[in-house]
Amino acid sequence: MSGAKTYFDIRRPLCENAGLPREFYPGAVNTAEHLHYYRQPQVVDLLLSDEMPIPATEDRENYYDDRHIEYWLSGYVDCCKMTRYLSAVGGRVRYLDFGGATGRVSRHVTRDPAKEVWLCDINVNWIEWVDRFFGRPIHAFQNRIQPSLPLEDKYFDLISAYSVFTHLDQDEIPWLLELRRILRPGGHLYLTVLDENVWDRLKDPAWEWLLRSISRGRNDEFLAERCREPLSERLVLEYSEAEAYNINTFLPRKYLQRKWGPLFSEIQFINDHHNYQTVVILKRP
Ligand SMILES: C[S@@+](CC[C@H](N)C(=O)[O-])C[C@H]1O[C@@H](n2cnc3c(N)ncnc32)[C@H](O)[C@@H]1O
Repeated sequence: MSGAKTYFDIRRPLCENAGLPREFYPGAVNTAEHLHYYRQPQVVDLLLSDEMPIPATEDRENYYDDRHIEYWLSGYVDCCKMTRYLSAVGGRVRYLDFGGATGRVSRHVTRDPAKEVWLCDINVNWIEWVDRFFGRPIHAFQNRIQPSLPLEDKYFDLISAYSVFTHLDQDEIPWLLELRRILRPGGHLYLTVLDENVWDRLKDPAWEWLLRSISRGRNDEFLAERCREPLSERLVLEYSEAEAYNINTFLPRKYLQRKWGPLFSEIQFINDHHNYQTVVILKRP
């Protein structure tokens, strides 16, 4: 039923913020790619001068547990990789962080006042956090589960969706079309997916943590068995009873080329470009 209340409309008190980035400096960083950026003095300067608090782990989709500096860096690194695709034809540069949670990535984009930054998410609590704590200009709103956004056609130069299409089932193509509608011709969608590059690792014991994190106790045996075979078709694994954001989906590259490719003028894949996930870059004709 359109507009009905869902799990994502239930407000709960936000947790106390972890603190300002500089309070955790130098902090633990485990990922080689993040360390590479962390060694650059200008990155440390940005970290130390960031006046926006880091959300509590529970208020940032549990990203990086208590490694608050690594959480900050992960968003910074994603932002650096993505903003090569962010340019305007004239006027202001407009960016949307779709499913942006509490702004892990967009907090970094807002450090450039020349960029007009938007964020939307189905979870009302994440929008509450952004409204209360962002401290830099951003347009944030809660979108509904149904694939429709109250935004004008051809508005954005770049739209990202980090770990969002990994959780969409029947609304995958409608959401893709909706994002395409609000993108200007020549603009880019920057999405992350679970494809065969991720799939092929699941049978490796070194990646058992990933298999568990994807199957979430619901599909452990099925997935452990199934991942020995190649990923030949789209696969959806449900892990909760929520109305949305309740599945993990694997999308083989052949499927993406056949179903997503014709909707855009370019489709490009970059392996391991958002941690272990594959980034798909699509250009609007
Ligand atoms: C795994 S988290 C990733 C959060 C953020 N993109 C990041 O990289 O830090 C997925 C996010 O997508 C949001 N989400 C899931 N389905 C959505 C939908 N249909 N529309 C908007 N947001 C959605 C969730 O509420 C959650 O914040």
